[in-house]
Amino acid sequence: MKALVLSGGAGTRLRPITHTSAKQLVPVANKAVLFYGLESIAEAGITDVGMIVGDTAAEIEEAVGDGSQFGLKVTYIPQERPLGLAHAVLIARDYLGDDDFVMYLGDNFIVGGISGLVDEFRGNRPDAQILLTRVPDPRAFGVAELDPSGQVIGLEEKPDRPKSDLALVGVYLFTPLIHEAVRAIEPSWRGELEITHAIQHLIDSRADVRSTVITGYWKDTGNVGDMLEVNRMVLEGMDRRIDGDVDTASETIGRVVVEEGARIVNSRIVGPAVIGSGTVISNSYVGPFTSVAENCRITDSELEFSIVLRDSSIQGVGRIEASLIGRHVEVTPAPSVPSAHRFVLGDHSKVQITS
Ligand code: DAU
Repeated sequence: MKALVLSGGAGTRLRPITHTSAKQLVPVANKAVLFYGLESIAEAGITDVGMIVGDTAAEIEEAVGDGSQFGLKVTYIPQERPLGLAHAVLIARDYLGDDDFVMYLGDNFIVGGISGLVDEFRGNRPDAQILLTRVPDPRAFGVAELDPSGQVIGLEEKPDRPKSDLALVGVYLFTPLIHEAVRAIEPSWRGELEITHAIQHLIDSRADVRSTVITGYWKDTGNVGDMLEVNRMVLEGMDRRIDGDVDTASETIGRVVVEEGARIVNSRIVGPAVIGSGTVISNSYVGPFTSVAENCRITDSELEFSIVLRDSSIQGVGRIEASLIGRHVEVTPAPSVPSAHRFVLGDHSKVQITS
């Protein structure tokens, strides 16, 4: 069995962060979202991974390499444009050959891994198996309709009027039968070859498509709110570990990770929180559910329920909450006269001002 991991696409909902970097590499508890997926594929006993890459190929390849850091053998499959999830299967045809495979969307986050699911699929070997979960607003997802016996009878992609609250999770198990289905469908209204339509094609041709409703934690990390939520959840599961320097004037409370090479000076860190190596926190407060990546400077500031990417600096700005701050960002106070905000904001930035 192989895996097909989708790491192309545009990531418009995470702009401006994803103008310059791949959305699958935005870190959760200082580790790329994609890495959690790759680890769970390795855990399920799969070693051969085809990785679909687009505009951000160089960055993904630099981070993942040949996959050996995860115990995987990664083959890159370039996709000229994000033409849809089924298009990704289409261009991976030669790589996948006649093997069964798990298709994993690189921006999806599933707690508890996929080993159980892969074992179940290997045991029963239906033509395809999909994962579903109940969500409050299914309109942003593929949505399944089940008959009273639990059999999938219909799938729709991002419907205005969903027929259920069961959303398709971004992990799919396929036999080679899917290759016929992806060749049989037409692009959708959004111009993409939808995997949802390919699976509907299997259902229409009476193939055995099974579904598993998962109740564990799942998020499509497509927007900032979801990223912060996944970050919160992962940090909650961490153990305390202080490998960096914490001076005697500082306090670290609860599940705090201070990586080697990080320094905490005259500050208070309340967990769960993680501070990356090379980062210096001074005269500051870092509150629960916060990840600060490598080589940042947090000075005379307060930070809570936020993600700060590497090489950024926050100085003397009071309190920041519920924020996603990119790489090489500088946040500083403005001179007191004239009393005005001063910005250099990238396209699609979002700023909320309290005064
Ligand atoms: O997250 C689950 C949802 O994923 C499902 O409920 C939907 O049925 C499914 O269509 C998909 O919806 P999204 O619109 O959220 O997919 P997105 O465009 O965000 O792409 C998912 C991942 O696949 C992302 O890591 C980018 C990558 N991708 C996407 C496309 C369209 C590619 O590598 N190539 C592509 O052509």
